[in-house]
Amino acid sequence: MPLAGLRDVLVPAAAAGYAVGAFNAANMEYVQGILSGAIRESAPVIIQVSEGAIRYAGLECLLAVARVGAQAAPIPVVLHLDHGRSLELVRECIRRGFTSVMFDGSRMPLEENIRLTRQVVAWARAAGVSVEGEVGRVPSSNRTWTASELEELMTTPDEARRFAEETGVDALALAVGSIHQLRFGRARLDIDRIRAIRVATGLPLVLHGSSGVEESDIRLAAREGIAKVNFATVLHEAFTAAARRFMESEPDNVDPRGFLAAGREAIANVVAEKVRLLGSAGKIDVASAGGLG
Ligand code: G3H
Ligand code: ZN
Repeated sequence: MPLAGLRDVLVPAAAAGYAVGAFNAANMEYVQGILSGAIRESAPVIIQVSEGAIRYAGLECLLAVARVGAQAAPIPVVLHLDHGRSLELVRECIRRGFTSVMFDGSRMPLEENIRLTRQVVAWARAAGVSVEGEVGRVPSSNRTWTASELEELMTTPDEARRFAEETGVDALALAVGSIHQLRFGRARLDIDRIRAIRVATGLPLVLHGSSGVEESDIRLAAREGIAKVNFATVLHEAFTAAARRFMESEPDNVDPRGFLAAGREAIANVVAEKVRLLGSAGKIDVASAGGLG
């Protein structure tokens, strides 16, 4: 199928109380692994690429691989720009055929974030592309955070409502306790806050930094309006561990397809496990080529 739009997969998810997995891809093997895991579970899926992945692999290359993969897939596949901070790159992705973009103005004052996000929404609307915006700030694991520091960064229902009304975004990323790239320890989510923001905005909500979040909280959050759940670090860990195991078990092998295929299969397994956790497994009737079941 052609690439799907973000609203096509998030609106039914938010209404039915499940979430769609958004997985960061860095190369062809990631894209193939993500698709393979989602197809195995008959789940809609979002492939997302960061500015770093675009610097590494090139926008055209990632776009082409995602398009070809989506075309052959019996499930809806969205191609999304993750954490777009450069307006130029966001615009470029809209022009070249991404079906969804995130503009991340979370490090800016709210006024500026609203002004630039509104500009992105205008460009995107004209091209039929969806936009994810962010209010509040999801911190990074480069230091430790106390509970009160985390709370200070969290999104409030009032600013979320204002941001939603004044920008017209299709989906809203929010800070509710998760931490980007958390590998050790488990973050806990403020479920009451998620519920309040969902009521205040009516929008499908997006969880970032999901690799390090307690699984039971992810399950609850999906029921309360989190419709897109972003995973990156857990994929990198799985890919690298599988590639390392392969190389250690076959030290004389010099064909890189061995460890790349091992990494790809590890990605597929993680994706399958995560979409089951999110409740999106089995939501696509693959027999009717991609209809929401
Ligand atoms: O935008 C990407 C995600 O928020 C990924 O976060 O690496 O902690 O899973 P993660
Ligand atoms: Zn993120």
